[in-house]
Amino acid sequence: MTEPPRAPGAPSTSASAPQRCRRSRPVVSLPAATGGGRPPSLSAGLRPCGEACASPAAGRLTTGRVFYHEPVMLGEVLEILAGVPSGVLVDATVGAAGHAAALLESHPGWELVGVDRDPDAVEAARDRLAPFGARASLHRARFDELPAILAGSGQGGRGVVAVLFDLGVSSHQLDTPRRGFSYREEGPLDMRMDPGSGPSAADIVNAEDEASLAELFARHGEERFARRIARAVVAGRPYRSTVQLADVVASALPAAARRRGHPARRVFQALRARVNEELELLGPALDWAVDALVPGGRAVVLAYHSGEDRIVKERFRAAVTGGCTCPEGLPCVCGATPRATWVTRGARRPSAEEVARNPRAKSARLRALEKLGAAANRPRPPA
Ligand SMILES: C[S@@+](CC[C@H](N)C(=O)[O-])C[C@H]1O[C@@H](n2cnc3c(N)ncnc32)[C@H](O)[C@@H]1O
Repeated sequence: MTEPPRAPGAPSTSASAPQRCRRSRPVVSLPAATGGGRPPSLSAGLRPCGEACASPAAGRLTTGRVFYHEPVMLGEVLEILAGVPSGVLVDATVGAAGHAAALLESHPGWELVGVDRDPDAVEAARDRLAPFGARASLHRARFDELPAILAGSGQGGRGVVAVLFDLGVSSHQLDTPRRGFSYREEGPLDMRMDPGSGPSAADIVNAEDEASLAELFARHGEERFARRIARAVVAGRPYRSTVQLADVVASALPAAARRRGHPARRVFQALRARVNEELELLGPALDWAVDALVPGGRAVVLAYHSGEDRIVKERFRAAVTGGCTCPEGLPCVCGATPRATWVTRGARRPSAEEVARNPRAKSARLRALEKLGAAANRPRPPA
């Protein structure tokens, strides 16, 4: 998830005292399956923002703060996974467990293995999923650790029938200034999803040379003015805070470019991806997901920027074509064996209604595939 303007009336996550929500927060009532990509029916209710904020999208931390995140394209995710048989759901980015709770509720035969690298998220998910008891097992881990986690859990011999990746960061992470993800709010320049591991964003901007910063901003942030920004960033060292860096980035841009969204958005996206190795970890994890699924099982991925989505498209296409190298439109003679088939044609996008309700959903792109049987060697589907 990137950081567009906060939704009108979005909750303040820094609130420590019980407050009233500033807007009606939807309470999801789950049908067994939802049709037509529409969100599940929502019955709005204004609740006090204290303990009653345990809506499907909110978990409560032991610190007393509320971990808030509205699950994106929930109706579409439920619809795509509606007909999938009983077994194990792997939520590779469980966050506040909005998707996970809705999926467990609509599939009584499913168990969940959920992971998140952020300790706050795991705590919130544990709280949110407590009503599901032993059906939910949660792990503080990166999703590249899933093979070991699943091997260790035994899963009672049940196969993995669904894998969900909802990439990026949660609203809670973005809106908590001390996590250092926000270019709008003053905080330490950190950006680590797992605060205890690896270099922070400050370590990177204070240490790397101008050429590597320019490459980072161009490649991971698709920033047109990467070189001039890198030059200004190096000249303005050392950095400790988010707004300090955001101001230097803004001052390095031509006036016209400053008017297109927040001037520091792409640089912050690039740094966040680098700090958390977001793009490096994704490809192998997607390959693992395709391997892990039983025939008929489905993988769903929500990506929030083009770098992520490109990797999803490439890895899923490789599974769907089996790596076929034959010319498009001709029968396959290279012996490739498709391992999966597309469930979505192209990327699905959130509805205008969802984006109006939750602007942070705007950049979401959803892709899904279904695992084929071991012996399947169907005619090559379009890539
Ligand atoms: C968009 S949120 C997920 C929200 C969740 N679907 C929900 O309904 O609340 C993304 C989450 O993925 C986690 N995350 C990102 N990359 C990860 C990785 N490589 N391994 C594990 N968790 C990761 C983040 O810490 C964050 O909590």
